Amino acid sequence: MQHTVPSLKDGSLFKSEGFIDGQWVSASSGQTFEVTDPASGKVIGTMPEMSAKETEDAITAAAAALPAWRKKTGRERGRILRAWYQLMVDNAEDLAKLITWENGKPIADARGEVAYAAGFFEWFAEEAPRVGGDTISATVPGNRVFTTKEPVGVAGLITPWNFPAAMITRKIGPALAAGCTVVVKSPGETPFTAAALAELGIRAGVPKGVVNIVTALKNTPEVGSTLTSSPAVRKISFTGSTGVGKLLMKQSSQTLKKLSFELGGNAPFIVFDDADLDLAVAGAITSKFRSSGQTCVCANRLYIQSGIYDKFATAFAKKVEAFSLGSGFADVSAHVEDAVKKGGEVLVGGKAREDLGPNFYAPTVIRDMKSTMALSSEETFGPVAGLFKFDTEAEVVKLANAAEVGLAGYFFSKDVQRVYRVAEALEVGMVGVNTGLISDPASPFGGVKESGFGREGSRLGIDEYMVTKMVTLGGMGGELQT
Ligand code: SIN
Repeated sequence: MQHTVPSLKDGSLFKSEGFIDGQWVSASSGQTFEVTDPASGKVIGTMPEMSAKETEDAITAAAAALPAWRKKTGRERGRILRAWYQLMVDNAEDLAKLITWENGKPIADARGEVAYAAGFFEWFAEEAPRVGGDTISATVPGNRVFTTKEPVGVAGLITPWNFPAAMITRKIGPALAAGCTVVVKSPGETPFTAAALAELGIRAGVPKGVVNIVTALKNTPEVGSTLTSSPAVRKISFTGSTGVGKLLMKQSSQTLKKLSFELGGNAPFIVFDDADLDLAVAGAITSKFRSSGQTCVCANRLYIQSGIYDKFATAFAKKVEAFSLGSGFADVSAHVEDAVKKGGEVLVGGKAREDLGPNFYAPTVIRDMKSTMALSSEETFGPVAGLFKFDTEAEVVKLANAAEVGLAGYFFSKDVQRVYRVAEALEVGMVGVNTGLISDPASPFGGVKESGFGREGSRLGIDEYMVTKMVTLGGMGGELQT
């Protein structure tokens, strides 16, 4: 298979250094790590293997930049975010090429990600000037009470490889809008998109020290623990696995930081007998195979009611059969092998496609899934759709909720009463009804249970980077002076 190296319209977006205090910098140790194209296995380039030293430099820079940045009005900060949004739109094709190159997702998906990612800057450019507090009617006579919202301070942002642009802008956008300065730990597997974003940030007028990017692969735990243990860092926002989230929470407890964690999902996707079959199949394709099945909100357990099960399985498998391939991972094979061993029938796919490159796995549909199979309790994070059969609403809600995590859940039904009943009963932070795509900068994104806490995007997203200050004025409300 031919693997192309993309040529960028603006080659200066390709940076091979971290970004600290407004400067492109290497690691003081001189160490670097290689980044590979997952489609071809070839090296794209190198990035500095930074350590505690550079992380501390970045924290110092962010702390020094904080007073001037927080002093700007929300409107001023919003204008810079808006300019950054526009630069992302103007350079969308180059950003999409970088994403596909280092992450491996199809270019159409990468273009979608750039639009989604830029949308967070646009959204929070608009939220920045609207932050305000409350006037409170005090119970103590003569007291007058009001609140203001203040930026929490320096924020440490730790992001994953599956959305090299969007997971970063979803955190930088609200942080900057709120008046925080940030230290971003870019994903070790996909650091070039983050660096290109920083370059566009310079062009948008982000002042030096406001956004700092630390790069590392092997030293990622060291960078993480430097961020979590620093008293100067007042907030950690992390997207990644539940296991790492627990570790970061433990580390952050020493300095009691404000936290928001968007962790693993294992999304149930339910199709009731009364669903519109075509809509449900289309929704399942979108939800299951977006980014090759590698998003935290991808359908993982597809529960199909018995009356529609066979029709759904046939129609869904037919669509999947028509796909061209995306990349796959080790877990994917393990889940397929386990399902087959326990009686699952592979309708489509079911094997790695090493003939196409080191990381390709055929999009797979398996029917006759059972709750004892690994896919039922573990997030596959790959292009495997397992179809479980169920009979009643109560049964499927119980199955759907039998997970330690609760990020997204989906269901398809035309019965409006059922829509309310099931949406209310699902133990998740986000519900998609008759749609497989719920991600939108305008909507609050986040989970319950072991999927974490805090909300990103929407008008709630900025609160994660702010603290409320209350001011009480005593001795007010006396008689008018004569
Ligand atoms: C994620 O996979 O963590 C984010 C997915 C999304 O924003 O849609």
